[in-house]
Amino acid sequence: MGTALTRAALQAGAEVQLVLGPASAAVPVDKRLACTRVVTADEMCAAMISFALEANLIICSAAVSDYRPAKKASIKIKKRQSQLGQTNQQDTQVLELVQNPDILAKLGRMKIEKTLKADTILVGFAAETNNLEDNAQAKLERKGADYIIANDVSRADIGFESTENEVRIFSKAAPEADTLLPKTSKTQLARQILQRVYPLS
Ligand code: C5P
Repeated sequence: MGTALTRAALQAGAEVQLVLGPASAAVPVDKRLACTRVVTADEMCAAMISFALEANLIICSAAVSDYRPAKKASIKIKKRQSQLGQTNQQDTQVLELVQNPDILAKLGRMKIEKTLKADTILVGFAAETNNLEDNAQAKLERKGADYIIANDVSRADIGFESTENEVRIFSKAAPEADTLLPKTSKTQLARQILQRVYPLS
């Protein structure tokens, strides 16, 4: 959804700063768009925090991993030698993981602590397989977002690997009264999301 939202924001006349992880989606070419490429969650976090200070609307749509390996091997990790054609059942590896920063939650804290501009709107996404409503409402609170855009990723016809999506928008102002944006193209949905979270666009 990140690039669809970028296109919709450009069409609405906004200046856009896109912070993009290793993704294959085509980035639009536009003089009002600046794109910062990052690889790690820490890099994405640093970039988002620096751009957030000037932003009117921040949308966190990246699927950031919650954990990363604690150690990075500098050389290839070789398996222990086994008999010709046999698998060495004793050769197991335990991978230690450490938490990545929760970028949306960090931005939410900055909003609460008034480090962001007073009227900055903060939007996050929630990809859910069950209890969509409860999880989205909890995320609004826990991450300090103004809006959470929730979609059901257990459905094969929408979301990941699909050109279409259907979402429910939960707002901090009225968490119980969410708005359904019915199944449509991601392009169309991005426009509808922007109109809802930033009505001037
Ligand atoms: O916690 P969960 O991944 O379900 O929350 C989704 C929202 O949080 C998305 O907006 C995603 O971009 C953001 N997120 C983040 N940093 C993380 C994990 C998720 O900003 N490490």
